[in-house]
Amino acid sequence: MIPKRCCDHNATKFFGTKLTCLATKVMVAFLFDEKPKSAVYIGDNLKYLQRRSTAHDIYFDVIYIDPPYNTGNHFSYNDKRSKTEYLNFMRKRLVLAREILAQSGVIFISIDDSQLYSLKLLCDEIFGSQNFLGNFITFQSQRSNSRFINTIHEYILCFAKDKKCTPKFTIKRLESPEFREGIMKLSSKVKKEFQQNGQKIAEKLLSKEIYEIAKNPDWNFIKNYNLVDESGEIFFAKDLSVPGEPNVLNIPEIGLKLPKLKTRRWSSPQKFIKLFYENKLSYKNNRPYEKHLLKDSDDNVSSILNFYSRMGTNDLNKLGLRDLFDTPKPVELIKYLIRIATNEKSKAKILDFFAGSGTTGQAVYEINNEDKKNHIFHLVQLDEKLSPKSKAYRFAQDNNLSPTADQLLLKRLEAFCKKYAINDDFEIRRVNK
Ligand SMILES: C[S@@+](CC[C@H](N)C(=O)[O-])C[C@H]1O[C@@H](n2cnc3c(N)ncnc32)[C@H](O)[C@@H]1O
Repeated sequence: MIPKRCCDHNATKFFGTKLTCLATKVMVAFLFDEKPKSAVYIGDNLKYLQRRSTAHDIYFDVIYIDPPYNTGNHFSYNDKRSKTEYLNFMRKRLVLAREILAQSGVIFISIDDSQLYSLKLLCDEIFGSQNFLGNFITFQSQRSNSRFINTIHEYILCFAKDKKCTPKFTIKRLESPEFREGIMKLSSKVKKEFQQNGQKIAEKLLSKEIYEIAKNPDWNFIKNYNLVDESGEIFFAKDLSVPGEPNVLNIPEIGLKLPKLKTRRWSSPQKFIKLFYENKLSYKNNRPYEKHLLKDSDDNVSSILNFYSRMGTNDLNKLGLRDLFDTPKPVELIKYLIRIATNEKSKAKILDFFAGSGTTGQAVYEINNEDKKNHIFHLVQLDEKLSPKSKAYRFAQDNNLSPTADQLLLKRLEAFCKKYAINDDFEIRRVNK
């Protein structure tokens, strides 16, 4: 990796304060051909946030942060402030974070029991309680040494900049940990049957499988997906009639002529034309239906997420970075959060200003790759000294890296991009003191 090192610039200062924000933005874009790029910022996130909020040069669709939980458990960074100090530390950053959120943007904040309640109140104050979208629960690896309650979960608070402008959260079932494996198993079984014995037999097998699977109430939706199309894909045929006076529908453009139904009318011609061109019309007994493929099916987002903290450790082990970070978040968890909040966007901007090992960077690269998106990330990480007692410190020494946290993050992104042959096109910038 040959990183491009350059300094964060403050456009308003450069051009003089008289320029309006918009004029400044346009001139910067013109002179520097400035397209937003992914970047890792090294330094204090407060400085980064101050700069972004005065430069008005980028607004983020998603901010994810996993701040220190103030538990005193981490020897590699300052994780023990008084309650007031901690809240002040967070307040300063969250106020600025709100300013650089896009109007439709959302912020996710990982936190545990110890700070949840005060942090929620702080966020209510900064973002407005009307913009609280919910609180997720995720699982932590079991700790067995607890005398009273063995806490095996933590939280992710979620706030919108402006709830009215925030698009609905949805997730493809195939991307959700509850359903992914089951759907993949069912689809491949049915496809195999389809290839060997054809559509009708595959549908018979499908209905047997559905009977078993739907015994679990969480899988009730599967009852609708009882058909197999001409490529062996499982789908659900949605009715295309609506309440109203029965009508004959004639759409020469797509060669469709439909007789009157008994008690209902057909959906609009525009709907039929759209579905025709999207290849989403299917026929049963000569009647057209809207085709919904199981692999594209969406689900709404529930508050309990089946992600376990140890998955984050496994993600790093896979990159050969065992035990270098205390609490990396699972890549799949961050992908899930980004996806639910950006499902309509192809070029979302994602910020993590407590970047740690850089999980959010890897998550963005993986989404771009899997979903054909062009999201970009900004990661901010303090060049905090690692404890000489830590394994991370020894790792830095062995690899000729300076023993600071930012170097480990860069190493992680480098290892990930190398392993999966991904173009590591991010810049490395230093947040000016
Ligand atoms: C809980 S860790 C984040 C872990 C991360 N989510 C991951 O998956 O690896 C918090 C990180 O924030 C960093 N940090 C703490 N204060 C900071 C500050 N003022 N500016 C930038 N980074 C900071 C710490 O060095 C630590 O690496």
